[in-house]
Amino acid sequence: MPPSCSAGALPAVAELPMTSVRTAEAKAATVCGKAPAHGRGTCLQGDAQDHAVKEAPAGRAGDAPSSFRSAAEIFPEVAKKAQPSQPCVPTAQQHFDDVSQSILKRDAKCRPSKRLHPDGNDKDHREWSDAWLRIADADQLERLVPALEATIHRADAADAIKKEDIAGLNFVKTQIEEVLILPRLHPELFLSALTKPARGLLLFGPPGTGKTLLAKWIAAECGATFFNVNASTVMSKWIGEAEKTVKALFQLAAEKQPSVIFLDEIDSLLSQRRDADNEASRRVKNEFLTSLEGADTDSEERILLVGATNMPWDLDHAVLRRLPKRLYVPLPGKGARRSLLLTQLAKHNSRLGLPGNLSASDIDSIVERTEGFSCSDLQQLLCEAAMCPVREIAAARIRQKAGVSQAQQAQRDIAKHDFECALRRVKPTHTEEQGLRHQAFNNEHGTCRGEDAMQDLESDAD
Ligand SMILES: Nc1ncnc2c1ncn2[C@@H]1O[C@H](COP(=O)(O)OP(=O)(O)OP(=O)(O)O)[C@@H](O)[C@H]1O
Ligand SMILES: [Mg+2]
Repeated sequence: MPPSCSAGALPAVAELPMTSVRTAEAKAATVCGKAPAHGRGTCLQGDAQDHAVKEAPAGRAGDAPSSFRSAAEIFPEVAKKAQPSQPCVPTAQQHFDDVSQSILKRDAKCRPSKRLHPDGNDKDHREWSDAWLRIADADQLERLVPALEATIHRADAADAIKKEDIAGLNFVKTQIEEVLILPRLHPELFLSALTKPARGLLLFGPPGTGKTLLAKWIAAECGATFFNVNASTVMSKWIGEAEKTVKALFQLAAEKQPSVIFLDEIDSLLSQRRDADNEASRRVKNEFLTSLEGADTDSEERILLVGATNMPWDLDHAVLRRLPKRLYVPLPGKGARRSLLLTQLAKHNSRLGLPGNLSASDIDSIVERTEGFSCSDLQQLLCEAAMCPVREIAAARIRQKAGVSQAQQAQRDIAKHDFECALRRVKPTHTEEQGLRHQAFNNEHGTCRGEDAMQDLESDAD
């Protein structure tokens, strides 16, 4: 090491191009709030950065990060402009890191004032967030816990989803029971490494087929702490906060085990890693993968991750590996459509005290004509059909007010012609092309593939 470079000293200023020194000094002056009183050979960081620490007044949380940011602008620049062979550069960088940390540590509770940069690629920005992340503060994690606790779903007995509320999907329900309910009822059967229940479950399929509904059933049945998490719970405009949230989430889940972490629309958080990913999203994905790996290998921890998506092909392959049970939630078969129609009509009729005048053959005909409908499309169809009698009454009341008619109609039953009308208005959401894509994914990665899937659909058809 050259004599001019003592530990923690700036790269010998005399050895740097004059322009870099001037630039650095000018910026240092802004940081310090004083004129550059030092000439060449002055130990720049000793004065400027230490001063930046001192100058950020205690209690003024916003000042420390901004001083830090200014300091962050100086040293990479000096380092960059120094000759690559300059042996002092790492020392200066190290000192810069130390100073950065001391600024941030000094007010550990202050939030970084710099907002997430859309591309997140600039160097200073990355160094800045690196320094922030290096401070593994218990305080920081604790601060996130209340927000995460708010995501815990507390199943309310009144609106808890029961197995019979979910039409069809027999294979999926059996598989979920195997992973969640059997191990709780008969733990002695699951002691061996080979019978250990899966730690990750992926529910994928077309929109409106009941993936979120299945999760609600899991929440009601599993007897575990159920974290209902989505992208907005995790993502944050603050640098470094998102990955800390993920870390805190898994820590809290471990504390409250057995736990289920449900990630709805998992593709929005854990899509394939690409070069174009911004820094924040890359970090979140890595944190998830690391935490999931931990949950996967630590045999003591009972954390199950359940992901739901209708774009499974977008998921990162490393994520797929950590979700070994991948259950296809297909469009409802005939049996499931019939069961959903009958259940919903029965609820409607019993609530309004109506006898229900649709015959079995009427239902059969609706079932035939709703091929390709998802359960949520069917629900929409039922709502549309149920509105026909309501519209009639509304029209009659208007006529009555106008003195045209005297008759006060009582609400009538839903009739077959109401469904005719509804079928003209409601169309399936899912296209055949998308359906083929889901099937192809299922054949390649699904747990219930080919014949199994067909058997499930056929059992739905009964
Ligand atoms: N299998 C089912 N049985 C009964 N009702 C269902 C079923 N699937 C969906 N539904 C109805 O459709 C609504 C939407 O379902 P859900 O939110 O579970 O769909 P999803 O698969 O999560 O859709 P997306 O992929 O768009 O999030 C539910 O609230 C429920 O009323
Ligand atoms: Mg959903």
